[in-house]
Amino acid sequence: MKPLNESVALSMDCHTPDVVPFLPYILQDFTELGSRTSSLTKIIGELKPPGKIHVLDLGCGKVAITMAIAETFDSDCLGLDAMGDFIIEAELEKKRKNIANCRFMVGDIRELSFLENAYDFIVLGSVGPIFESYAAALNSFRQLLKDNGRILLDEGYMEEGRVHPVTLGKSELFEQIARAGLWVEKEYKGEEISPPGEYEGEMDKIRQRCLELIALHPDKAEIFQQYIKKQEIEYQSLDNEITCSTMVLARC
Ligand SMILES: C[S@@+](CC[C@H](N)C(=O)[O-])C[C@H]1O[C@@H](n2cnc3c(N)ncnc32)[C@H](O)[C@@H]1O
Repeated sequence: MKPLNESVALSMDCHTPDVVPFLPYILQDFTELGSRTSSLTKIIGELKPPGKIHVLDLGCGKVAITMAIAETFDSDCLGLDAMGDFIIEAELEKKRKNIANCRFMVGDIRELSFLENAYDFIVLGSVGPIFESYAAALNSFRQLLKDNGRILLDEGYMEEGRVHPVTLGKSELFEQIARAGLWVEKEYKGEEISPPGEYEGEMDKIRQRCLELIALHPDKAEIFQQYIKKQEIEYQSLDNEITCSTMVLARC
């Protein structure tokens, strides 16, 4: 298994793990780091059973999604992420907003030892290509679901005939989902989950924070310049090549 900082680097489209310690600074203007809070809460609202729901948010980042679910629904929510600084920030925000029904933990989502049959929803929001086998990872998450529980997988894939260095093709992703004993009950795509025109403003903020870091650490300028380039390429791929999808996965 790759070291944790390499997993974070992969999930955040960093060209090197050397950027990882600077991510809290670079991403200080964001709360959502990939998935859209509004679309995930809408989907949970459509599917949720009556009564209190239990939610596990894997790779929760700066916990925008975990916290929105906790604020919107009668729920008990747990967010887990590898980045300690994100979780510290989240704890402060939770205190500030006085939210009691969510908890956060620092940990590796590739090594979970949680209660089985415990969750109505497991959110896997934009964690990227961090698993050696998607099928094995989804299979282990499936065991944490209640009988009628769902995994909300927010992920990009390539349509048939297109290739990308790390993003899976649609048929390969769907095959891995099936091998995990799950099926795609529903799929939300494109503007349903990601309104157009959002990426340019986000890229401007990333560029600005990297320029500030270059001024502070001129010896590391190359790392930040490469990071900007990588993000520009990724945003272009998201705009033009990758299909952004939120899949509702249920047990077969
Ligand atoms: C692109 S961000 C998405 C964050 C959040 N789901 C969202 O959409 O706002 C990916 C997150 O996965 C986390 N991550 C990557 N590898 C991880 C691992 N092995 N265990 C726990 N978290 C991990 C990163 O730290 C990062 O916060």
